[in-house]
Amino acid sequence: MINTTDSNTWKETNHGGVMSNAIIDLQKNNFFEGKKVLELGGGCANHTKLILENNPSLLVTTEIDRERLEVTKQAVEERFGKAQNCEFIIADWLNVDGIFDVVITNPPYFVSGKYNRRYFIDQLILNSFNRLAPGGHLLFVQSSMADISLTKKRMEENGYDFEILSQQSFQWRDYYFLDTAFLQMCDNNPGSYFIKDDKRWEILYAVQGKLRSFSTQISH
Ligand SMILES: C[S@@+](CC[C@H](N)C(=O)[O-])C[C@H]1O[C@@H](n2cnc3c(N)ncnc32)[C@H](O)[C@@H]1O
Repeated sequence: MINTTDSNTWKETNHGGVMSNAIIDLQKNNFFEGKKVLELGGGCANHTKLILENNPSLLVTTEIDRERLEVTKQAVEERFGKAQNCEFIIADWLNVDGIFDVVITNPPYFVSGKYNRRYFIDQLILNSFNRLAPGGHLLFVQSSMADISLTKKRMEENGYDFEILSQQSFQWRDYYFLDTAFLQMCDNNPGSYFIKDDKRWEILYAVQGKLRSFSTQISH
């Protein structure tokens, strides 16, 4: 992977940094305190550790395979020892049991391995409601290149109050230019990046969705 030193060590990227800053801002209001939190794709545990600092009642952190999960777990244990309120499980995205107050992730995008690079974002928007209590929060980070207006539309369609918590611009990473399919996709969607000083820039957004309560109403 592009931002790893080996296949199981994930280093914080710009996306991860934007999510970290959003978590730190949320902590100021004790957002995670006492909550049941599901973190998908814990990776280097950058977010796992920040969330644990805020005393959730439970944090379930997932990874796609055992080696990666071990990296996440070790990073947490180096900092907190064996935290009683933290569980580590292998799971493929939202295939997890339980109901949570918060689902949080920095989803795979550029290297999603899917034809639809938005696959993991779209899965979140479509299926997180199965894991969230009414009024629960879905938090994630995404690039302008993943089409933020489409995310807003899909979240509203799927019962979330949509909010951008923060945003920050970054120069394109060099490896973006190596993927011709990605370049073509961006050229078909000019709003996905902007040009400054002859360089291409993306905007990274920390996104929050609050799940509305709903019921099916049948009128007679
Ligand atoms: C963009 S990285 C984020 C890692 C870390 N949370 C961060 O922000 O730096 C995405 C993480 O999701 C994991 N992942 C990829 N596919 C997954 C899947 N299907 N289910 C769960 N995790 C997955 C990857 O192993 C990786 O650690």
